[in-house]
Amino acid sequence: MKTDILVIGSSNTDMVIQAERLPAAGETILGGRFFMNPGGKGANQAVAAARLGGRITFIAKTGNDIFGKQSLGLFNAEGINTGYMLSDPENPSGVALITVDKNAENCIVVASGANASLSEKDLLPAKTVIENAGIVLMQLEIPLETVRFVAQTAAAKGVMVVLNPAPACLLPAGLLNQISVLTPNEKEAEMLSGIEVSDIESAQRAAQKIKDQGVKTVIITLGSKGALLFHENEYTHAPGYMVKAVDTTAAGDVFNGALVVALAEGKNMQESTRFACEAAAISVTKLGAQASAPYKTEVDEFRDALIQTSDIK
Ligand code: RIB
Repeated sequence: MKTDILVIGSSNTDMVIQAERLPAAGETILGGRFFMNPGGKGANQAVAAARLGGRITFIAKTGNDIFGKQSLGLFNAEGINTGYMLSDPENPSGVALITVDKNAENCIVVASGANASLSEKDLLPAKTVIENAGIVLMQLEIPLETVRFVAQTAAAKGVMVVLNPAPACLLPAGLLNQISVLTPNEKEAEMLSGIEVSDIESAQRAAQKIKDQGVKTVIITLGSKGALLFHENEYTHAPGYMVKAVDTTAAGDVFNGALVVALAEGKNMQESTRFACEAAAISVTKLGAQASAPYKTEVDEFRDALIQTSDIK
């Protein structure tokens, strides 16, 4: 069975409160609106990729509870193949507590639940799916050993492995050298390179340092400043866009989902990075994680509008 894009990762339910500002340690503040919506870096990336036209199989582990059942229903409704999804009889589904401030910034605490028990053994029935995928996309909200197993299995068959190293953590060389494309944000790039990323020049140095650890291609996402691609010894800066940001939650997830769709469609690394920046820019104009993932037509309209106002960089 050939699946174009295989996403393996976390699925959460996000409990979100909008507030004037993020609380300091030990502080209670009164917030504003509360809402729940589907999240989890893996699920967000799978949904984003599906909405942008990708043929997606998503593998995650949820609890045997209402959140897990709701998530499964939503993935099916998005046209995602959920045939390899797993249900954990012991642990609850993942939950994230999120505060979003008036500048669209957030802070997130995740109770991983079932995500933390997604093991190599769980994925053995999906081994041939991993080996036959067009692209495998992962993040770090599941155990590192599981990520390493998938990366090794895929890379051994020449399958492109895209790893979004979020949340930030140090990665062993034995994993990094299996990765085709690594997509850290500024903070994650800093952790992996030891270089503080504050502008394009420092992003270039960080990308070089990360590449030296065995990764083929590095894309550092730079928030509103777009992304820095380091591919085949060439740096390319994909621009960010001036948008009215209301919530940056899952912007990186939308970036990754869009990136793999463009790559699966045969676009080159530069074109794919630009497309991913466009999709991510749209996502920050909407509240929520999966709720903010745009459809292909929205990205096309966004680009057309930029061309018409000659704002495209
Ligand atoms: O990247 C945003 C996501 O991080 C949220 O949806 C939350 O669930 C956490 O996984």
